[in-house]
Amino acid sequence: MTPIYQTSTYVQSAPGQNKGYEYARSQNPTRKVLEEALAAIENGKYGLCFSSGVAATDAVIKLLQPGDEVIAGNDMYGGTYRLFTKVFEKFGIKFHYINMQDSNNISKYINQNTKLIWLETPTNPLMSIIDIEAVVSIASKDHIMVCVDNTFASPYLQNPLDFGAHIVLHSATKYLGGHSDVIHGCLVMNDATLREKLYFLQKSCGAVPGPQDCFLVLRGIKTLHVRMQRHCENGRKIASFLRNHSKIEKVYWCGFEDHPGYSIAKKQMRDFGGMMSFELKNKKDEEVKRVLSSTKLFSLAESLGGVESLINHPASMTHASIPREERIKNGLSDSLIRLSVGIEDADDLIEDLKKVLG
Ligand SMILES: Cc1ncc(COP(=O)(O)O)c(C=O)c1O
Repeated sequence: MTPIYQTSTYVQSAPGQNKGYEYARSQNPTRKVLEEALAAIENGKYGLCFSSGVAATDAVIKLLQPGDEVIAGNDMYGGTYRLFTKVFEKFGIKFHYINMQDSNNISKYINQNTKLIWLETPTNPLMSIIDIEAVVSIASKDHIMVCVDNTFASPYLQNPLDFGAHIVLHSATKYLGGHSDVIHGCLVMNDATLREKLYFLQKSCGAVPGPQDCFLVLRGIKTLHVRMQRHCENGRKIASFLRNHSKIEKVYWCGFEDHPGYSIAKKQMRDFGGMMSFELKNKKDEEVKRVLSSTKLFSLAESLGGVESLINHPASMTHASIPREERIKNGLSDSLIRLSVGIEDADDLIEDLKKVLG
């Protein structure tokens, strides 16, 4: 096993002559092994680890200058939206939030200041699918960088670099860690110059993970494939159960053949995963709250991608930082319920939902 190098500094041979490591904000052996492993599973050349997914996002936006513009999906993790609007707009970076399901929409927002296209696919929490290859082809005409937040799919299901994306981001807190016991983020890329710029930001801004956290993610990814297989199997069963239930109005899951992004999902993903959202027919607040607070195996909590199933209310939890009008405009209602289907016995999970839905 890779040891946990609980080390902040490293003995050097002579002034200016180190043995590969100087100071742990810049390099740590446990982190290095993880960075290499993450690059390998994302089919990339370089990995960089951060203290959280948000810290990794922060590093990517710090590649930009005041006056630069970013085109971002309008359905994304609330914390990313908060970082963009509440922190980076203040520093003169302009963000356009658009529906990317039709990639032709993007061209309308491109101008000479556009430097980055930011997308999640599947999106959080509406499970829309964005065509990575199509976005990259539009972006490359104007030398615009594309960063894909691949947290929902995980590298087991989708490798955005293979479709031409320049940077892949993960909240490793989720599927990569897999056990709800670590906060961690990472970036993976192929371009050496880009890696140098991001490494400079990693060590200069200092949002690095500790070695114990790197160890936990290293251990997590050893079982990623097995966990993901079960997440996908369970996801398929739970999504079908919900869709056929008389109390459910709509299920958002990209594995349904009539999902608008199904054919793109088939092209760029190996399976459809265990994330889904749904709407009850009865959308009254009391009923939505009752469902959210009554399940036994699905725990009410933020986050996703752990072995245990979670139930979440995006409007008041993960996406509360997006203003209500903005949320509603983009289809994220007050009554939407999100599930992160874990790897428990699928029949037990269905029984849990059956009891609550009636
Ligand atoms: C899709 C997505 N990206 C990024 C993040 C941020 O990651 P972290 O919580 O590790 O900072 C999250 C967290 O929920 C997420 O769901």
